[in-house]
Amino acid sequence: MKPSIQIVLPAMLAVLVTIAQSSPGVAAADEATKAPRGIHVQSPKLDPALVRKTQEETDKVIRRGAALWKDRQLGTNGQNCNMCHPSGAATHPETFPKFKQQFGRVVTVQEFINWCIVAAMRGDSQEIGSEDLTALEAYQAYESRGQIMEIGVPGP
Ligand code: HEC
Repeated sequence: MKPSIQIVLPAMLAVLVTIAQSSPGVAAADEATKAPRGIHVQSPKLDPALVRKTQEETDKVIRRGAALWKDRQLGTNGQNCNMCHPSGAATHPETFPKFKQQFGRVVTVQEFINWCIVAAMRGDSQEIGSEDLTALEAYQAYESRGQIMEIGVPGP
């Protein structure tokens, strides 16, 4: 007798879920660039090799950001970004640069990520433009794709 679909399907799903759970870092990283991108207006004269390279290199940095997002070593108190901002929630990159009370001036999103690393995670402030800050910015921006740019809206 052939095993019925009711048995085979759940069994396959269970195996897939087990594989996904056994490598959370990899699963999260793959997740990061799976969803479709938006619609872009692109010059037809653009070199296809450059278009491909731009996408590949950017995707690499987004995936690095996705892994860092769950990294508890960024700070010293065992927290990671994901605990307070699940999948980039409430980071509102589309509202930066904007005035933030903590700085008393208009700041870029990387400056504010540093604020969270220091104040919320008790870590060391990182150099603006560092690989880590750029990756975190790329990931949260990717997760916010489709949002309307509205500079200066207070958050979170
Ligand atoms: C312990 C909780 C906590 C952790 C961990 C944390 N944040 Fe935050 N984050 C906050 C809070 C609270 C605010 C709101 C602060 C404010 O707006 O003044 C915030 C605000 C932000 C904002 C600005 C949102 C806005 O609209 O102004 C960004 C960007 C951000 N976090 C990124 C990050 C990143 C990236 C990480 C990891 C490196 C991180 N946060 C880790 C609590 C956290």
